[in-house]
This record gives sequence, structure tokens and C-alpha cells, in this order.
Amino acid sequence: MKAPKRLQALIEEGLIDSVVRQLMSGKEAQVFVVRQGEDTFCAKIYKEATHRSFRQAVDYTENRKVKNSRQARAMAKGTRFGRQAQEEAWQSAEVDALYRLAAAGVRVPKPLNFYEGVLLMELVADEAGDAAPRLNDVVFSADQARQHHATLLAEVVRMLCAGVVHGDLSEFNILLAADGPVIIDLPQAVDAAGNNHAARMLLRDVDNLRSFFGRFCPALLPTAYGPEIWHLYTKGMLSQDTPLTGRFVPDAHSVDLQAVLREIEDTRLEEQDRRLRMGL
Ligand SMILES: Nc1ncnc2c1ncn2[C@@H]1O[C@H](COP(=O)(O)OP(=O)(O)O)[C@@H](O)[C@H]1O
Ligand SMILES: [Mg+2]
Repeated sequence: MKAPKRLQALIEEGLIDSVVRQLMSGKEAQVFVVRQGEDTFCAKIYKEATHRSFRQAVDYTENRKVKNSRQARAMAKGTRFGRQAQEEAWQSAEVDALYRLAAAGVRVPKPLNFYEGVLLMELVADEAGDAAPRLNDVVFSADQARQHHATLLAEVVRMLCAGVVHGDLSEFNILLAADGPVIIDLPQAVDAAGNNHAARMLLRDVDNLRSFFGRFCPALLPTAYGPEIWHLYTKGMLSQDTPLTGRFVPDAHSVDLQAVLREIEDTRLEEQDRRLRMGL
């Protein structure tokens, strides 16, 4: 296909040779399959910040590090320079998170380059080498659901141990590659230790996995891995090998118990709101 304008710059730089096709356009970005020599990659072009929802702007930019104070002031004031700085912070947050997570061995597409607002990364592919489907487009047996749920919980733990909470993890942002699920779409990822919303986002991410895979494997529905994982994390007791039970028995002497329970209640209310809004 003819390269869209924003990919033209990458062709001129020799970063890619040609554009094969556009993948389904999500809410924040346009994504293309591109070729470079014998290789196939994926190019993600971010949409303008103005097209994004307000909530993301509030939740996700909190505590995000900016390069200098002029930038911080401009972002706070919402000047044109400020909006541009915010835009760049958002885009580079995804790039930073991808490099950090790929280095930590998390199942994310390997980032290759970030040029002129375009992220070039590994194409997550199915057995035939085509772009992999989202979990939402696949039907699972109870056994497969249990297995993928366990794999993804381990990835959530690996991310948290690397200091990152995804923040928008769901069946729409996980692709089923030939060798298992791969996590994508990280511009809203937050620093687990430095963001006040990290607990709520982690609980919501894990809850999305529970309810999605619970459709195929109802035994997963009563599990409480989110509170268990966050509790262990805040206690400094979470590592990749920590055995998880899926049960959360609050320790009566625990100082952060109230905070965890508050987060659970917030998550529940938020989900209730969402369902109301969607007319469920
Ligand atoms: N690395 C990748 N490999 C294959 N497909 C991808 C890749 N990244 C994104 N996609 C496809 O593009 C869609 C949108 O990408 P995503 O990062 O989720 O952006 P958005 O913010 O628009 O949701 C995804 O649902 C997926 O189908
Ligand atoms: Mg997405």
C-alpha cells in the first residue's frame, strides 16, 4: 500500500522499506505492518493527545518524570509547548516501558526504534507469520484459559518486580502469538512505587484477566490474585518465584490492610460504574 505521510519519514531514513497494510486502528494509535528487507515489523503511529480521554490525562501523567521544570510548568498550564511536551511524555512512556520490560524478560514486543512519533517494534505473529489476534477474538477451552491466566499472572508479577504496572491490561491489549500471549499497548504504564494510582491499576489489570478467562474457566472467578500480589509487593515479599494461592487472607496486624481494602472497594465501585455506563 502507499505509505501514509507519517511513515514516509521512516522510509526516507531507511528505517523501513515499505508499508504492507494497516492493522485494526485502536483508540490511541494507528498500527501498520511494515517491511525492512526480509523482515516484517510493526509501526505504531500515535494519535494527537487531544483525541484522548480526560481520565487518562489525569491518572496516568501523575508523577511521570519530565525532563525539566520549564516543561513541567508548561504541562501544568496546558500551553501549546506544554501539550507537545505532554504528548512526547506519553509516547516515550510506552517506549520506555517496552525497553524496560523487554529487558526484564516480560512477554512484550521487542522495541526497535522510536522516530518522529512512530514506534517501530517486533510484529507479534501467529503460526502463519500474520499479525496475531487479540485474546478477545479467540475462544478458549477451560484448560487453555487456566493456562493463559497463569502465564499472564506471572507476567504481571514480572512487570511489577520491574517496577511497572500496565494500567490498561485486558483482552484487547494482549495478543495470542504462536508461542503464547504477548502484552502490548503500554503508553499509560505507571511506576509501581511512585504513582498513587498504581494499586488501583494493578487490581483492575488482574481483575480484567480474572473476568475474561473466568468466562471460559469459571473456577477462576472467585480468585483474588490482585490483592494478594499487591499485598506481597508492598511488603517487599514479591518475587518471580513467590507461590500464589489466589486467596487473600488479610493479616489483621498489617498496617497497609486498610489501604488495600480501600483499593479493592474503589475498584469494585469503578467496575460497577463502568457496567452502569455500558448498560450491563
Ligand atoms: N507489536 C504488534 N504486533 C502485532 N499487532 C499489533 C502490535 N501492536 C499493536 N498491534 C495491533 O494494533 C492494535 C492497536 O494497538 P495498541 O497498541 O493496542 O493501540 P491502541 O492504543 O490504539 O489500542 C492492537 O489491538 C493489535 O491488533
Ligand atoms: Mg489497545
